[in-house]
Formats: sequence, C-alpha cells, structure tokens
Amino acid sequence: MKNSAAMLLLSLVPMLTQQAAVAGPEDDREAFVEYFQSRFPDVAFAEFANGIYAIDEDARGQWLDIEEFPPYEFAVEQGETLWQEALPDGARLADCFGQSTGDIRPAYPRFDAGRGEVVTLAVAINDCRQTQKLPVWPYDSEELISITAYLAYAARGKPVVTQIHADEPGALAAYEEGKRFYYSKRGQLNFACSDCHVTSVGLHVRADRLSPSLGHTTHFPVYRSKLGTVISLHQRFSGCVRDVRAKPFALQSEEFRNLEYFLSYMSNGLEFNGPGARK
Ligand code: HEC
Repeated sequence: MKNSAAMLLLSLVPMLTQQAAVAGPEDDREAFVEYFQSRFPDVAFAEFANGIYAIDEDARGQWLDIEEFPPYEFAVEQGETLWQEALPDGARLADCFGQSTGDIRPAYPRFDAGRGEVVTLAVAINDCRQTQKLPVWPYDSEELISITAYLAYAARGKPVVTQIHADEPGALAAYEEGKRFYYSKRGQLNFACSDCHVTSVGLHVRADRLSPSLGHTTHFPVYRSKLGTVISLHQRFSGCVRDVRAKPFALQSEEFRNLEYFLSYMSNGLEFNGPGARK
C-alpha cells in the first residue's frame, strides 16, 4: 500500500512540473524550436547555442581558430578579480547572491514578483552595489560587463531554465510584452526582429549572415572583434534597433529586459556557453 502511494506520487511529479510551466509560452517555445529545426534539419538542437556558427561552416572554422586564444579571457579574469574583491565593509559581491558561482547566471533573467518586473543579472549586480552603498556601474561599463563575463564562464554547460510561474500573472505579462516587442515592426526600415532572425535566417545582409534567434541569449556577453571589446546582450539589441533606424531604448530598459525574458525563455534547454566571440 505504502509502496503504491509512493509510486503514485512519483508518477505525479512530472505532471506537476509540466503544469507549472505556463501553456502559452511553452507552446510558443516548442513552435520556435520546431521552426528552426525544420529550417536546419542537419543542425542538432544543442548547436543553436552557437549562433551563426551553427549554420555557417566557414564562419565556424574561423571561430574555432579564434577560440584557441579566447579574446574574452581578459574580461573573465578582470571579472573574477572584481568578484573576489573585498568591499569597504569587508563583504564581497558574491555575498549578495548566496548561490554557488556557476548557478548565478542561470538564475537570470527572472520575474521578481515583489518588484513586479524582470530582473536581469546586470540589474542584480547593481542592486548589490546599492545595498553595499557603492555607486552603481553604468550598464555599458567594463566593470559590469566583465563580471557578467566571469559569471557566464562559470555557468558554462548549465542549462537555460527561464521560469514563468503560473501563479505570477506579472511574469506572463512581462513575457507577452517581450514577445510583442520581438514581433513588432519598427523604425524607418519597418523591420521586426523576427523578420531578420526568423523569416530571413541564414540570408546575407551586407557582410553578415543572419543568425537564428533560438540560442541568442546563451553566449553573452560577447567579444566583438570589430569593436575590440566585450559587449552585453542589451548593447547588441540596441545595435539591431539602431540598424533599422528605430527609436532607441536604454540598456536595461523595461522593454529590453522583457525582450531578454522572452528570448531567454525561447532558449530553454540549451546550454550556457558564454562569453562568446563574434565578428
Ligand atoms: C535588418 C535585419 C536585422 C534586424 C531587424 C534585427 N537584427 Fe539582430 N542582427 C542582425 C545582423 C546582421 C546581426 C549579425 C549577424 C548575426 O549574428 O545574426 C545581428 C545580430 C544579433 C544578435 C547577436 C547574435 C549572436 O549570436 O551574437 C542578437 C542577439 C540580435 N541580433 C538580436 C536582435 C533583436 C532582439 C532584434 C529586434 C530588436 C534584432 N536583432 C533585429 C540583423 C538584424
């Protein structure tokens, strides 16, 4: 009797966790993955974490050469130093998080029900600075980006597990906002993100080939050889918005945080592999 009750409970566990995932986003994610898998049937799901290198053999070869002497290594090292540094009161940044270093990156972006908004890793780091009465870092500062590089490196190999809890209507609303942003036409060129990174994926735009959006959030921050520096995901969002000559949004604006939440959910199940290296 006892045994069968335990068996019943065990068999319920997967059902309960499945129900905890909200139907709408989960249906969206499955359709998103299916679309890219049908466009690129020879590309394994896990490969989509590698952006353009998943679908472009030449670019992939160049990238593998670059990875022999990773150009983002200095950022990871600088980030680690800042992470370990004792702050004026003897505390460390790590004390704010109370998690092992490798688990921090995967915990973001998350919906904070108390604040009623999406909190990204960059925001959480600055929140920590504020608690410790230190000035916040600008979102494009080398300090902040290098800490995210260090935390991305520490999380390599862990799965993306973006959560949208059914009992938090604000979380679903933030996701829907991000999704709306992603599919909305904007700018003088009147392009949506999806026009380039879904519909036209794999096509050439001047010197670039368009990467799939599936996996877009796994490898940030990335070293851009064109710029000779490491940039954040929101800086990349900002560049793409500028390229269609649309109204700019601030780094870590609500619009970009919701967009990150949506895209991060789409990448659930892929592995974190940041920092990345791109043209
Ligand atoms: C006119 C086409 C175009 C539109 C519209 C566009 N992008 Fe891009 N995007 C590019 C090109 C070109 C690149 C560089 C090549 C690549 O990786 O796709 C790029 C790169 C990116 C990358 C970096 C990929 C990586 O692996 O490093 C992200 C993330 C991204 N775009 C997100 C967005 C988002 C979000 C939007 C909507 C706000 C958007 N893009 C709209 C053309 C576009």
